Amino acid sequence: MDVPKEIFLKDYKAPDYYFDTVDLQFQLGEEKTIVTSKIVVSPGVEAGISAPLVLHGHDLKLISIKVNGTELKGEEYKVNSRHLMLSTPPAVVFNLEIVTEIYPQLNTSLEGLYKSTGNFCTQCEAEGFRKITYFQDRPDVMAKYTCRIEADKTLYPVLLSNGNLIEQGDLEGGKHYALWEDPFKKPSYLFALVAGQLGCREDSFVTCSGRNVTLRIWTPAQDLPKTAHAMYSLKAAMKWDEEVFGLEYDLDLFNIVVVPDFNMGAMENKSLNIFQSRLVLASPETATDGDYAAILGVVGHEYFHNWTGNRVTCRDWFQLTLKEGLTVFRDQEFSSDLGCRTVKRIADVSKLRIYQFPQDAGPMAHPIRPHSYIKMDNFYTVTVYEKGAEVVRMYKTMFGASGFRKGMDLYFKRHDGQAVTCEDFYAAMCDANNAQLPNFLQWYSQAGTPIVKVASSYDPSSQTFSLKLSQEVPPTPGQPVKEPMFIPVAVGLVDSTGKDMPLTSVYSDGSLQTVSTDGQPVFTTVLQFKKKEEEFMFKNIPERPVPSLLRGYSAPVRLDSDLSEGDLFFLLASDSDEFNRWEAGQVLARKLMLSLVADFQQQKTLVLNPKFVDGIRSILRNTSLDKEFIAKAITLPGQGEIMDMMEVADPDAVHAVRNFIKKELAVQLKDDLLAAVKSNRSSEAYTFNHDSMARRALKNTCLAYLASLNEPDFVELALHEYKSATNMTEQFAALAALSQNPGQVRDDALLDFYNKWQHEYLVVSKWFALQATSEIPGNVANVQKLLSHPAFDLRNPNKVYSLIGGFCGSPVNFHAKDGSGYKFLGEIVLQLDKINPQVASRMVSAFSRWRRYDKTRQALAKAQLEMIVSANGLSENVFEIASKSLA
Ligand code: ARG
Ligand code: ZN
Repeated sequence: MDVPKEIFLKDYKAPDYYFDTVDLQFQLGEEKTIVTSKIVVSPGVEAGISAPLVLHGHDLKLISIKVNGTELKGEEYKVNSRHLMLSTPPAVVFNLEIVTEIYPQLNTSLEGLYKSTGNFCTQCEAEGFRKITYFQDRPDVMAKYTCRIEADKTLYPVLLSNGNLIEQGDLEGGKHYALWEDPFKKPSYLFALVAGQLGCREDSFVTCSGRNVTLRIWTPAQDLPKTAHAMYSLKAAMKWDEEVFGLEYDLDLFNIVVVPDFNMGAMENKSLNIFQSRLVLASPETATDGDYAAILGVVGHEYFHNWTGNRVTCRDWFQLTLKEGLTVFRDQEFSSDLGCRTVKRIADVSKLRIYQFPQDAGPMAHPIRPHSYIKMDNFYTVTVYEKGAEVVRMYKTMFGASGFRKGMDLYFKRHDGQAVTCEDFYAAMCDANNAQLPNFLQWYSQAGTPIVKVASSYDPSSQTFSLKLSQEVPPTPGQPVKEPMFIPVAVGLVDSTGKDMPLTSVYSDGSLQTVSTDGQPVFTTVLQFKKKEEEFMFKNIPERPVPSLLRGYSAPVRLDSDLSEGDLFFLLASDSDEFNRWEAGQVLARKLMLSLVADFQQQKTLVLNPKFVDGIRSILRNTSLDKEFIAKAITLPGQGEIMDMMEVADPDAVHAVRNFIKKELAVQLKDDLLAAVKSNRSSEAYTFNHDSMARRALKNTCLAYLASLNEPDFVELALHEYKSATNMTEQFAALAALSQNPGQVRDDALLDFYNKWQHEYLVVSKWFALQATSEIPGNVANVQKLLSHPAFDLRNPNKVYSLIGGFCGSPVNFHAKDGSGYKFLGEIVLQLDKINPQVASRMVSAFSRWRRYDKTRQALAKAQLEMIVSANGLSENVFEIASKSLA
């Protein structure tokens, strides 16, 4: 491999040429597909007379190239494996026509044009369009497209592309064609084409201005009954975007296509969204509450991109968070508004902690707007997406819902139809609110999770309460020294009876920083913390309060407060901010787990703090709390979260301690847990609404606790729940509960489940994932065996993520001290890389934090990484992750 080239944000240059219109023609065939591209090119202001026109192209066979109708001769252009260059194109507007030949049926990378279960489909983001034809494949080149598709009518009765269908008809030789026109300018990454045998569920939506939009969800005919929830989600999203942001859909047709083989979750191609099956297809019998919720969120997400991403797009790929952070924020808000806000917030913050914090503390740490990349596909990360969404959320925390809306309105007013940067978004937010947020842009350029330390003190004589805040952003690769950032810290002060104190005035550096605007007391105020150290002084505080800090998780930081254990138990019982109630429990659990880990390492007998058991018991018994909130509040922090807090991560100790606490809680809270299982059964038909999901969540969480004890009564109970379940949520949870302990019961249940569901590939994927993530000893052998199971397929990303991804996400077995887990992954990464570099690269990331472990594990993991980087023909995708992990 040539040494892969790193691309830098600081090198951005506007394109020399713009494309006004692009007319594509596809002749889809079994052996080859011929793509004819006619482009109207206009030289940009900077082009001058001599600028060459450089087009991207990858795995293409060039057939011909014409300028203004005349075929170019060999010396007039240059082609290599990545580019096509015209050295002296005309200095005025001209027509370019390029014919290429491609082989979608051989394309296992699943980018560009490829085949999935016999149908043609595309995935162009980020840089897949260059695998279709030679093009300036960059998001700041926006053009109007038409697309004519020709194909065999029997094999490919349905022909779809972006925009409106303007013509269709039959052709000779059993073929037919369709001509599509997209009236909106778009970058190449939003182009899409689908051709195949698909049925559709059709519905319609009347927009706020009265336009009737036809909605179609396309999938193989037998799956059509499973598209009802996705259609519901789409209509809900369309309505929500009108109500909350005043954003209306802009065409008469909106299509969603379901594809079994897909690298990512879904793709927002203009009016032709493409989804992997798991994120569309659902029925109560085959999908869990988690699946239903994911469908709602992702259908919303892709739909919301129509404005945040498509109408206003990114200038370059470094700005990815401009559309993704913002759109994740929008889908989070959408799901919150349709469900339960606190529970959704807890889920989103947990995701950030479990997946993003480790990334931000490892060798792949990057700011939400990276400074460089080798393969852009490696930067579709939890940092760009989830931390990016937290950064957007901070604007809303600062400006309030109406201020945030004003900022959004101004953003669209200024930039509709443009490809812009994160600064443009920041400027719209600040200008619309007549505000400045000093040091806020640091969130876009500095990596690493800031640590905020808080020291509090109360002075009874002056009735003042002070919070001394300090911040520290840890060093990350390439960024040894950090600047202070703007951190909004939402605070409430809780009095001794558990009530919020009215807050009237807060001073920082002697000057009034926050006060309620209309003279009314407020109970939560947002401190604008923007220096390395800053003291905030609350006046008129009659007694020593317990501060409730960072309410609703107002900034993506690690909080290190001086709250005592007593304070935390108090907040767990009485904070009016429900998120912080949960958080208090988590902080307690993390502290407890860490101290038990130390005990375990010193071979001391483990003893569970009875106050912790009491705290959990009172949450469990509190009937005024939301049931899903209870389920979350009685769930211990993940093993990764605890390992993250250790000097040297010890997966065995953390696993042992987490299991110990789980079983100890189960023993001590047996009666309450059992009561919760029994009282939360239901005989009603499955419904997707918060109350029923909350009920199932609580029941399933309690069942898992009880079954962990492996006592005959509880095994019986779990078996009973498994057999009597009428929906997948409860059936699968019971199966998971049963399979915690190795033995005949487990084996029988897993076999029974497979036999029952072997014809539903999405359920089979769950079955793979459940076994892959199992913590039973020596699980690597089982996973190895499943690789050759007839239902497994290395070419299908969903199955790879379930089985291999699942295995690597389960610490005890992946980090087995004998290196068996590492060896397993090392071998599979090389195999996968030959098939699909994007998927291989996601898998190899599991190695990236190898330095966190002990010397023995370090050596074993490092050996695998070294073996990988030295392999012949390695993709740039895997090379980037593996080499940065070793650096
Ligand atoms: N834009 C898609 C989304 O909605 C993600 C597609 C990225 N695909 C890729 N191969 N990098 O989040
Ligand atoms: Zn997205």
